[in-house]
Amino acid sequence: MAKLKGLLLAGGTGSRLRPLTYTGAKQLIPVANRPILFYAVDAIVSAGVEEIGVIIGDTGNEVRTALGDGSEFGCRFTYIPQSQPLGLAHAVKTARPFLGTSPFLMFLGDNLLRGGLSRLANRFSEGGFAASILLTEVKDPTQFGVAVVQEGRVVRLVEKPKSPPSNLALVGAYCFGPMIHEAIDQLQPSWRNEYEITDAIQALIDQHLAVDATLVEGWWKDTGRPEDVLEANRLVLEDIQSQVDGLVDEASQLEGRVIVGPGAEVHRSTIRGPVSIASGARVQDSYIGPYTSIGQSVLISHTEIENSVVLPDSKIVEVNGRIDQSLIGRGVTVSGVQSRPRAVHLILGDQSRIDL
Ligand code: DAU
Repeated sequence: MAKLKGLLLAGGTGSRLRPLTYTGAKQLIPVANRPILFYAVDAIVSAGVEEIGVIIGDTGNEVRTALGDGSEFGCRFTYIPQSQPLGLAHAVKTARPFLGTSPFLMFLGDNLLRGGLSRLANRFSEGGFAASILLTEVKDPTQFGVAVVQEGRVVRLVEKPKSPPSNLALVGAYCFGPMIHEAIDQLQPSWRNEYEITDAIQALIDQHLAVDATLVEGWWKDTGRPEDVLEANRLVLEDIQSQVDGLVDEASQLEGRVIVGPGAEVHRSTIRGPVSIASGARVQDSYIGPYTSIGQSVLISHTEIENSVVLPDSKIVEVNGRIDQSLIGRGVTVSGVQSRPRAVHLILGDQSRIDL
């Protein structure tokens, strides 16, 4: 079989992650101090794919700057602007000149997959299927594409069903042969006004073509909502190894697995891993608890924080009480009020969320 090309989707609007996505691509939000999109590229490259088309939208320039030409990842990127985020099938249609008649592996740039994509790619390449998809059991299938499987073959697919026919969700990883393009050409927009790849795969099934499904090994995370980003951060930090390249003074304690990046400094603080502190960050007189990622050049002073993600260039200073389960954007300032009256002062951007 011809070599698989890759198609990585990094367009879309990121509306469920506002306000963070007003100023940046959702796929570039970091977990364990690395953009989610980078893990997606690693997964595609590890599956043996070298030519990757990257679908970009409004945040295209930022995505290009972050990914470069692919040499850092051992692949070649072709950037493919999508006029509007009209659906996953529309993204494939937009990429058709790049894909030609090659079989391809498509992956959603906001998805994280612990077990990688090699098994999916191998099954597809060896099995002679029209498509191969990955599935996983979920608690609330109404949020996903849902599949009905009989004897290892997909017999029915439905996108975000009100009454799900099973609890098997489509993970955002797919392999397709060139027949998918004809199926896409016949599509009508769905109730949410998108051209759904799920409907295109259903069209393959309706033509009695074989669509193969396999269950995810390890965990899978769609990072569409803030709580998903925190969970993804937790899952990725679970696998880190300690590495201290920055400065940790003698009055500080590191417990468990902790990364301290080059040029980062930790003074008079307790860091209880797994924790990642990025380069140039400064932590002083503070407690950083498990499952926390502190971004580049962040300042944490006289503060307790855990289970959280802090993006670069933010300052968190003298906060009363412990910050927990929080996702804090770039260049944010959070400071405690030490004098009376202890009123709360807020300058929050549009669609911020704060629980007091
Ligand atoms: O995460 C798995 C789910 O992904 C599947 O279960 C669904 O069947 C599938 O339709 C998809 O659903 P979502 O509603 O979560 O997709 P979302 O709109 O979040 O887009 C997924 C990624 O693709 C995201 O990184 C943005 C990008 N995208 C999306 C659209 C609609 C594009 O690049 N172009 C687009 O037109």
